[in-house]
Amino acid sequence: MSTPSPVRIGIVGVGRMGRRHAENLARRVPGATLVAACSPIGEELDWARDTLGVESLHKDYDALLRAPGVDAVFLVTPNTLHPAQIIAALKAGKHVFCEKPLSLVLDECLAVEAEAARHPHLKVMIGFVRRFDASYQDAHRQIEKGAIGRPFMVRSETCDQNDPTGFFVRFAPTSGGIFVDMSVHDIDLARWLLGSPKPLRAFSVGTIAMHEGLAACGDVDNGVAICEFADGRVACFYASRTMAHGHETATEVVGTDGRLVIGRDGRLTRWRSPTRTASAR
Ligand SMILES: NC(=O)c1ccc[n+]([C@@H]2O[C@H](COP(=O)([O-])OP(=O)(O)OC[C@H]3O[C@@H](n4cnc5c(N)ncnc54)[C@H](O)[C@@H]3O)[C@@H](O)[C@H]2O)c1
Repeated sequence: MSTPSPVRIGIVGVGRMGRRHAENLARRVPGATLVAACSPIGEELDWARDTLGVESLHKDYDALLRAPGVDAVFLVTPNTLHPAQIIAALKAGKHVFCEKPLSLVLDECLAVEAEAARHPHLKVMIGFVRRFDASYQDAHRQIEKGAIGRPFMVRSETCDQNDPTGFFVRFAPTSGGIFVDMSVHDIDLARWLLGSPKPLRAFSVGTIAMHEGLAACGDVDNGVAICEFADGRVACFYASRTMAHGHETATEVVGTDGRLVIGRDGRLTRWRSPTRTASAR
């Protein structure tokens, strides 16, 4: 049997997260090869050439889409650019991986969905990383098997380590705010782990614990939100940009027969599930 040829990928955006994706694609992902890079910033392109040996370098996104020998793009660009860049890539016949969130505007999400439907032979995915985490996948399987009975509540959090350089403040004008930018992971998980209920209403509050500069964008550095789903189930989200000790994520699902917790302690498989004691049955 012949080995399939590797997928030839162009990275778009070579900043904080783009460099990680670029290094993974170039060195660690079997079946992928990094062939092109795009960034308006010359030093970022120099980094891609000097560190990873990428030869096809573009300051302009359309030029990368026109370059020969690119099967797929990895979009690791500011959140406001995602929908237009996905649509352009699909029209150019490229598969797309795009970092979260899909967009800051619902209509733009729907426009991307419609364009994707016009190109069923092309893959389009958004980088909801925790859906590919073995512990979350294991937890999902346990819930589907009924291990905690009927799940009715999710509490989920995404907490970043404080970045004293002020990156989060510079990032804020295009991030969509703490909930769209960070809690989007938890919102996706809550819907996935509860079997895709439809949201009915949400309530949120936030505070600026450290980064006063966020006030100019109407943003906060710590936020709490509650979402009620149409079937009466609920989810509670916490997002923080100011953790002192490091990046931390955790999710808890409460069901009629137990509780399942992912990410509260560092073990190889991170789900655990305290269930009813004999006296409570
Ligand atoms: N999944 C996660 O947990 C996670 C974590 C961090 C960031 N992200 C996402 O990754 C994306 C990038 O975030 P970041 O922290 O790396 O930001 P960043 O500001 O460090 O990088 C953005 C990059 O986009 C480039 N860029 C700007 N305009 C461009 C254009 N028109 N065409 C091509 N490139 C352009 C910039 O030069 C830069 O390289 C965002 O969507 C963010 O939400 C996801």
